[in-house]
Amino acid sequence: MADILITGGCGYIGSHTAVEFINSGMDIVIVDNFSNSDRSVLGRLQQITGKRIRFYECDAADPQAMEKVFSENRISAVIHFAGFKAVGESVKKPLAYYRNNIDSTLTLLELMKKHNCYNFIFSSSATVYGESKDMKPFTENDEAGKCSNPYGRTKYMIEEILRDAANADDNLSVVLLRYFNPIGAHESGLIGENPVGIPNNLMPFITQVAVGKLPKLRVFGNDYPTPDGSCIRDYIHVADLAAGHMSALLYAENHTGCEVFNLGTGKGTSVLEMVETFRRVNDVELPYEIADRREGDVPYCVADPTKANKVLLWECKKTLDDMCRDSWRWQKNCIA
Ligand code: UFG
Repeated sequence: MADILITGGCGYIGSHTAVEFINSGMDIVIVDNFSNSDRSVLGRLQQITGKRIRFYECDAADPQAMEKVFSENRISAVIHFAGFKAVGESVKKPLAYYRNNIDSTLTLLELMKKHNCYNFIFSSSATVYGESKDMKPFTENDEAGKCSNPYGRTKYMIEEILRDAANADDNLSVVLLRYFNPIGAHESGLIGENPVGIPNNLMPFITQVAVGKLPKLRVFGNDYPTPDGSCIRDYIHVADLAAGHMSALLYAENHTGCEVFNLGTGKGTSVLEMVETFRRVNDVELPYEIADRREGDVPYCVADPTKANKVLLWECKKTLDDMCRDSWRWQKNCIA
């Protein structure tokens, strides 16, 4: 059977996708250089799935190392997660972001051509949409590319590179997945998001406050044009997101060209609603204060997932309660 290459497979979304693929009976090969992930994830993946993981510790942008991966396996599809992803850091180190994120994509595309591999699934982001003018959910037809930071621009540039590559090669099939806000963790509590240092994102910050590692949450702004004044996002359970990659792969295997899909629930949740839901579901204290707006935040970012629902036959199954419960279980396990 052919192998599916998962770059960044020890990271947050990559590891959940690895579980989804293994549990569906697929053979996977993981590449990760642990630049933002932990070696212990490999053992945890084996614990969850009961399968040995084929793994290479290398940089997905390294042509020699990746040539070895392609020549030692029969790679039929690449799911490309590996990449730098911190918005603030990308503003300070733009060249590192362009070099790393774009180089890895080019390396993979060149090796895929050489080894007759034609399916590419790319981790893009809702950040490519920028600000919604009318506070309506984004469809894939909405304008993209007006990103406010280098990280977002790498995502959009890679989308364009992949579009060009698919135009030039009739065999190639590219699926661009625009993720909204992934949260939650595997229900076993064995894998989840484990940011280094003080978290930037809302859910890891919430769980670290709840567990007592951080004193209180700062809600960035309560004067946005939203019902309660705090920003609205489309939070999606990472397990639903992982399942979206399986649907995308099935689609890629049966089509050529380049298609883009939003992966989100279509439901918006404000920061204050998230705080309330987390408290209620987990019965924990969650001290917070209202702070100034965070630079670069948009008031509203929600997916219209209709295209993925219809074309990929994929939809989200987990609720916001599930997301809060699973994130909390993972956080408690991290401490233990
Ligand atoms: N927030 C707080 N306090 C915090 C952290 C976040 O109030 O301590 C608020 C933010 O202001 C925002 C919301 O919670 O309104 C969500 O913030 P996140 O940082 O969790 O997520 P973002 O929507 O800002 O960004 C995420 C990813 C990006 C990606 C983007 C796509 O982190 O990588 O979604 O829309 F590009």
